Amino acid sequence: MRQSISLILLLLIILLAMRFARTERVNKSEASTGLFWSTSKEEGDLLRKAQADDDSSSSTQEEHQLDGGFSSLEGMLQWAIGHSDPAKLKETAKDVQHLSPEEVKTRQMGIKELMEKLKMPSDAQLMKTAIDDLNNSSLSLEDRHRALQELLILVEPIDNANDLHKLGGLTAVIGQLDHPDPEIRTISAWVLGKASQNNPVVQKQILGLGSLTKLVEMVNSKFPEEAIKALFALSALVNNNPEGQELFYREAGHLMLQNILSNSSIDIRLRRKSVYLVADLVECQLGSSNKEELPFFSNQLFLKSVVDQIASPDLDLQEKALYAVKNLLQLRSTEALVFKEVCELDVALERMRQQLQQLMLEENFKEYAVDVESLRREVELIFLEKLDKEDTQVPT
Ligand SMILES: *[C@@H]1O[C@H](CO)[C@@H](O)[C@H](O)[C@H]1NC(C)=O
Ligand SMILES: *[C@@H]1O[C@H](CO)[C@@H](O)[C@H](O)[C@H]1NC(C)=O
Ligand SMILES: *[C@@H]1O[C@H](CO)[C@@H](O)[C@H](O)[C@H]1NC(C)=O
Ligand SMILES: *[C@@H]1O[C@H](CO)[C@@H](O)[C@H](O)[C@H]1NC(C)=O
Repeated sequence: MRQSISLILLLLIILLAMRFARTERVNKSEASTGLFWSTSKEEGDLLRKAQADDDSSSSTQEEHQLDGGFSSLEGMLQWAIGHSDPAKLKETAKDVQHLSPEEVKTRQMGIKELMEKLKMPSDAQLMKTAIDDLNNSSLSLEDRHRALQELLILVEPIDNANDLHKLGGLTAVIGQLDHPDPEIRTISAWVLGKASQNNPVVQKQILGLGSLTKLVEMVNSKFPEEAIKALFALSALVNNNPEGQELFYREAGHLMLQNILSNSSIDIRLRRKSVYLVADLVECQLGSSNKEELPFFSNQLFLKSVVDQIASPDLDLQEKALYAVKNLLQLRSTEALVFKEVCELDVALERMRQQLQQLMLEENFKEYAVDVESLRREVELIFLEKLDKEDTQVPT
């Protein structure tokens, strides 16, 4: 709490400092949105931040959920702190800590007034402006791109994501999935993924608008970035969402995943995301023990395509594949003998063991290698146990 108050107070100083910069920039760029943080450089920073959030959703997600998410103000504040003199900020922060609660309150009122004077647009207003821009067919490609990038940041807080559909935003963004420019399609898929991540309300809205079919199609794009963001959006849509998963299977999403995993010339990032999604989907099957398991998950070719990822030189992919195999082994419908005879899981696990032993000798990788080895060992034990069980069931 104390920290957030100091942040707000810091904001006051920063806002004052930015007042002139704002007027100047708006005049210079004649930006239709009037977003004073949306010059190209800052946008780049924000975009990098958004990009960094993508793969490691958990850590940043947690951070945002502490206070219900970023507001665009806070996002701007983050940026401002990054661009300010740290010594001065520290000094201000020190002052702030010596204020009495009354003084804090007075200052807060002051900020509120100041913000009203500056006509700081609310997140909803910012979203509405971006959505109106998207809906304008005569908008330049560059401005369309910018509007989507703004939405990408704005939909991160869950409250904003929940407002998006009300404002016509989902329909507008989904419309962009058909845009002739691949970059526009890419960032649109990304916005949909961001908005639906860990958000059952938005998941349901997007699924209801029928975009899953289009996103599955987009994963086959010859533009790797488009395929990756479409798969990111699909993962976000089906995560913990039985209806989404049903639609995904109906659109042959599982076959799409197998195709990706069977083709070693496909972008490694797409393969990582695919194997991760397999692990996630199977985990859901394990969680609902009363439901029938998808027969596809015991398909020999599919299982081989997953186990083969363990032999990848990419450690991240290997680790994700281990998780997927661990879950697949625990399905009732899979057979340990298939993992052994068809997939040669025992060979893959032994090769990985040797590789990890080597890695443990390197100081920088030791800790990581120990962790992965413990997962590998766990998979091995589950595998051996399953083999044992089948042996006793079907004596030869
Ligand atoms: C920007 O425009 C406003 C009004 O449109 C004007 O008052 C101000 O002087 C302009 N600032 C610059 C730096 O041109
Ligand atoms: C659409 O965009 C064009 C070009 O930026 C602009 O001149 C026009 O006013 C916009 N139309 C609406 C309805 O906002
Ligand atoms: C977009 O424009 C169409 C007509 O051109 C309109 O029917 C629709 O309500 C607009 N959507 C938004 C979100 O403004
Ligand atoms: C494998 O992927 C590459 C690159 O995307 C593609 O050109 C090729 O047709 C794919 N091969 C098969 C058998 O699908």
